[in-house]
Amino acid sequence: MTPFSRITGTGSYLPPRRVTNDELARELAARGIETSDQWIVERTGIRARHFAAPDVTSSDLGVHAAKQALEAAGRSAAEVDLIIVATSTPDMVFPSSAAILQNKLGIAGCPAFDVQAVCSGFVYALTVADAMIRTGSAKCALVIGAEVFSRILDFNDRTTCVLFGDGAGAVVLEASTEPGILASDLHADGKHAGILCVPGHVSGGNVLGTPLLHMDGQAVFKLAVRVLEESARACLHKAGKANTEIDWLIPHQANIRIMEGTARKLKMPLEKLVVTVDEHGNTSAASIPLALDEAVRGGKVKKGDTVMLEGVGGGFTWGAVLLNM
Ligand code: UT7
Repeated sequence: MTPFSRITGTGSYLPPRRVTNDELARELAARGIETSDQWIVERTGIRARHFAAPDVTSSDLGVHAAKQALEAAGRSAAEVDLIIVATSTPDMVFPSSAAILQNKLGIAGCPAFDVQAVCSGFVYALTVADAMIRTGSAKCALVIGAEVFSRILDFNDRTTCVLFGDGAGAVVLEASTEPGILASDLHADGKHAGILCVPGHVSGGNVLGTPLLHMDGQAVFKLAVRVLEESARACLHKAGKANTEIDWLIPHQANIRIMEGTARKLKMPLEKLVVTVDEHGNTSAASIPLALDEAVRGGKVKKGDTVMLEGVGGGFTWGAVLLNM
């Protein structure tokens, strides 16, 4: 058993089709739905998102991100002994996207499973992988967030369809004698299930209920602002660290107003906030590893930096992971 797990490589992938607010507004206008670049930017900070082609699945996006993370870590796929995919838009009802992705990596044998915690999925998955590494069940894990949210959007509902995008991010998490993951803090409260959900399900060969995303944006907004602060503070407390010791805050990328509000409540300068929501939209479980990889590759997040990751979303779920890179 090793005392710690540490991120040794990051990767990400966005499908090539970039859709600007203006382009989306034109497409929606053709359906009689009115929106504008100005409304979307002012209310959310989103300027563009990427949409995957109809035949591209979460595991297709995830495998690109995973290969990049492995390359960054200097590891081969054969060395991976655990795969966890955080997704709410899996390739199939079953098997898991993780098992499908494992096969696409050309490996077999290691455990592979999905974690379903919607936009908190990546912090959940990272926490599970950390626990498995620290207890000796794994040494080299791939933790991936991959989503094709465009598949579950109701393009007749302007209050949700302008918010989300597709993409994937990945990290390699390895057993380490150096501290990496310092603390994590996870929560769920199922009584709020109805404020952000895709209520449909498969039954007798048919889809019962609506298979498209429904969200009460204001209810989610209010809860998100509260729990993101609470969870960050709980995580700092567990790690015995102060907010001034955080070098980078990487919250779930849903809305710039929520992210900046969280940074302000934590008394962190906005320069320490990693923002990719402008170019990615909300990619649910993929948003945090996508933002982390961009920050690493862009030279912001460096080895030794202390980083706070924070997720919040359907369930209602939320949580944070504090780590040293
Ligand atoms: O990933 C999980 C976490 N999810 C989130 O964190 C999302 C949290 N919620 C939000 O980010 C925000 O609540 C939204 C961005 C979804 C909405 O922003 P808001 O400031 O709460 O707007 P609102 O719902 O209060 O709507 C304001 C107005 C309404 O019109 P009236 O009633 O004031 O006449 C809406 O009908 O904006 C209208 N509206 C739009 N107008 C143009 C709603 N969507 C659009 C749109 N384009 N796309």
